[in-house]
Amino acid sequence: MFNFFKRSPKLVEADLSFLGIDMHSHLLPGLDDGLQELETTVEFIKDLQKLGYRKLICTPHILSDLYPNSPETILPKLDLVRNALKEANVSVEVQAAAEYMVDHDFATLVKRSKKEELLTIAGDYILIEMSYISASPNFEQTVFDLRMLGLQPILAHPERYSYYHQQFNQYERFKEIGCKLQVNLLSLSGVYGPHVKKTAEKLFKNQMVDFLGTDLHHSKHLAMLKHLATRKDFLDLVSNAELLNKTLL
Ligand SMILES: [Fe+2]
Repeated sequence: MFNFFKRSPKLVEADLSFLGIDMHSHLLPGLDDGLQELETTVEFIKDLQKLGYRKLICTPHILSDLYPNSPETILPKLDLVRNALKEANVSVEVQAAAEYMVDHDFATLVKRSKKEELLTIAGDYILIEMSYISASPNFEQTVFDLRMLGLQPILAHPERYSYYHQQFNQYERFKEIGCKLQVNLLSLSGVYGPHVKKTAEKLFKNQMVDFLGTDLHHSKHLAMLKHLATRKDFLDLVSNAELLNKTLL
């Protein structure tokens, strides 16, 4: 007979306070494919506080025509959320940055911007991503240009770029050119598939992970995050990593 308890991983009380700070999410309402309603944002933030988060740096997509966000669209939403949290007596600190798609438009923006004009994390970091379909052709040049501005790029979810799964040395190359690597918590739950999970685990085993982010978009993500946080095998894997989340306090 199937023995459920024998097969199930050990569960512990959900507690992500060892991370304390999230630096990748789509919680600001109505800006991208993340949350749409302010009330939902407040509910999610209350739940994240219960999981042990004290500070949330929200990172709406900035992606040419699809999500043409900028400080002008993002910062007013941050104000809305902060006011709603104040009214609801929620003490989590919320900040805003962005998740920039590295494409031609971003390369141009970097070339003509000052550091202060970009939406950064803790002043010196900037979160960037690539398409899931193919690598950004101008990636290394853009990373170089960001570094010339005095910024430290953080590459979002490198484990999700399946075109690199058979070329692990590409992840080493990202580190060499000065990228920090941010793995998604949910990649370790297997929700994005077994190859993504395996690559995320390998990045941890090779001590290459700098940040863990939620990349929260919707309620399914939140439910899966709450479950992942109870898994002892997950906590064992990540607890020895020298993560930089807490340096963003
Ligand atoms: Fe994201």
